[in-house]
Amino acid sequence: MIQKMSKNVLITGGSSGIGFATAKLLLKNGFKVFICSSNIDKVNKSINNLKKINKSSISGSVCDVANFLAVKDMILKAISFLGGLDILINNAGVGFKKSIEDIDFIEWNKLIGTNLTGAFNCSKISIPYLKKSKNPQIINLGSRSGRYSFEGGTAYNASKFGMQGFSEALYLDLKKYKIKVTLIAPGSVNTQLTEENKLKKALKPEDIAKVVVDTLGHKTHSNVNWIEIRSNY
Ligand SMILES: NC(=O)c1ccc[n+]([C@@H]2O[C@H](COP(=O)([O-])OP(=O)(O)OC[C@H]3O[C@@H](n4cnc5c(N)ncnc54)[C@H](OP(=O)(O)O)[C@@H]3O)[C@@H](O)[C@H]2O)c1
Repeated sequence: MIQKMSKNVLITGGSSGIGFATAKLLLKNGFKVFICSSNIDKVNKSINNLKKINKSSISGSVCDVANFLAVKDMILKAISFLGGLDILINNAGVGFKKSIEDIDFIEWNKLIGTNLTGAFNCSKISIPYLKKSKNPQIINLGSRSGRYSFEGGTAYNASKFGMQGFSEALYLDLKKYKIKVTLIAPGSVNTQLTEENKLKKALKPEDIAKVVVDTLGHKTHSNVNWIEIRSNY
């Protein structure tokens, strides 16, 4: 059973894929959810869809997680809607394959800014609010690409290997406040981020949403540090 007090959730990148599926499942389980993404039309469309599950428990705003000041503003909006923060899900991400010779500085910065600095920004700004929660938790979306590199993955692999180290150190820093930190590391998931969606052999976003909700079901003293999930096709 989900801990009663841990019901207010902020999901970054909640407008599609894993973030959207997670918002959906959390709403079905009685959570109050705030989502953000960098495209206002996508955010609004997703909120309208999610309102079909529970109109009063979902809201969101546009925010580029790479931008520290924009994150500050977005988190204030989230707190005002949720009335507090129990759970932060650092999910926003972009991905592409490009060799070191082809990738440029702007592409590198966008990917690292979103996938890694975004998690830093959201975690850092959320901490004072999470400290006030009875059962606070941060869930970071890592990847198997955080353990295994692929050709053309200098930026994506760097971001996900980085996320793995960030997550483990974050757990050690926040343990004293009883803020739990979990890294979920999926293999290929059928979303717009990956070419695997054409193969239909990847995991579904709903599979990862289930792992998130299962993880939140643990008692306050039990921290799930790291989970890997792969397709079994
Ligand atoms: N798909 C996979 O195979 C796979 C495997 C392992 C891990 N992951 C990780 O899972 C997470 C979710 O990815 P997904 O597969 O669900 O892909 P997705 O469907 O493309 O979702 C990515 C989400 O992040 C948002 N986003 C992108 N840039 C952003 C920014 N700068 N600021 C705020 N939001 C931003 C996107 O919305 P906007 O475009 O509106 O900004 C979207 O809501 C990522 O961290 C990804 O690395 C994915």
